Amino acid sequence: MMAKFRRIGVLTSGGDAPGMSACVKAVVNRALDMGLEVVGINGGYKGLIDEDLTPMTHKSVSNVVSYGGTFLYSSRCPEFKTEEGMQAAVATCRKNNIDALVCIGGDGTFRGATDMTRHGFPSVGLPATIDNDITATDYTIGLDTAINSTVNMIDQLRDTCESHERLNVVEVMGRDCGQIALYAAIASGAVAVAVPEVPFDEAAAIEKIKALRAAGKRSMIVVVSEGMFNPDGTPYAETLAKNIARETGIDTKFARFAHIVRGGKPTMKDRTFAAEVAVKAVELLIEGKSNIVMCQIDGEIVSEDINFALIADRMYKNKLKDGDLDAFTKEQIDAMKALSEKRKREIAHLYEVAQNVAF
Ligand code: ADP
Ligand code: F6P
Repeated sequence: MMAKFRRIGVLTSGGDAPGMSACVKAVVNRALDMGLEVVGINGGYKGLIDEDLTPMTHKSVSNVVSYGGTFLYSSRCPEFKTEEGMQAAVATCRKNNIDALVCIGGDGTFRGATDMTRHGFPSVGLPATIDNDITATDYTIGLDTAINSTVNMIDQLRDTCESHERLNVVEVMGRDCGQIALYAAIASGAVAVAVPEVPFDEAAAIEKIKALRAAGKRSMIVVVSEGMFNPDGTPYAETLAKNIARETGIDTKFARFAHIVRGGKPTMKDRTFAAEVAVKAVELLIEGKSNIVMCQIDGEIVSEDINFALIADRMYKNKLKDGDLDAFTKEQIDAMKALSEKRKREIAHLYEVAQNVAF
């Protein structure tokens, strides 16, 4: 069935990710080429509530492919989750003849897309977050750039650590997902890495650091995911730095990279992945598909139902609530289990590689 859309809206929402601008560009160009009008919604769902819209032309997206951040701006907009916020968003779509939406962001953004679909505006989600924490897809726009930026910065810390015979503990973003930390640790030759998914043996790490120093290693890097916490809820990375300094006597520094790796020009991988999923999303929307998220599974771009993706996330995180699986067939539940297992295997594999190169 071909959907009879005349005008679609596109927005970027939640934490920005390098490659979001390239993604918007591809959505706009493909939709215009397929005969649709496109409206850019500024600042995510906030722009829908505030009716902050910009008509999009090929010219408006010319040259944005290399932009960091998102030229459509983003926000975290709790108001959108309220009934009043939703009604305002719906009113904006009606008033501006927006028939359907492409929503670029993470799982929160997909929840918003589902709500808009339910209110009569077919929506498609495109996965964009540096965290790569969406279970239904192997990859999310922004991860590659964030890792490369992290590694470049660690390389610079390495230089000064080598000169001064120091160790640097580095805390990186990723929320509950340790992928940025794991890839960065492997690619920068870190001596230890701590991520939320795998129990961390601090005493063993400290013994290893002592042994490496005794063997003559001058500079050392330890990568810690921001998702690691002390029992009192404070960030663990800084504590680990203090413990290493105390137990080893090594001159130890601490760096929190935080948002700095969320900016910057997207890598080739993020630009091309963004373009691929965007083109496919527009085509599927026009074919009449909605409430889907575009995913990459084993190298292929596929679409998945948003509700499936959201519940697969809950399954992976062991946060399923009573009744969550009721709407799904046995095949779908098995598919969710397979995705969760695959992700666990992937994290375990990366962790093992990190241990093997950590000298
Ligand atoms: P991300 O999309 O990166 O996960 P957020 O979790 O901040 O980032 O979500 C982005 C936006 O999506 C929120 O600011 C809010 O406007 C909307 N959103 C998040 N959760 C929901 C929800 N449960 N229902 C409707 N909209 C939501
Ligand atoms: O989800 C992306 C992310 O950068 C996480 O890695 C981090 O925990 C969070 O967003 C930070 O959010 P904010 O930009 O709202 O401070």
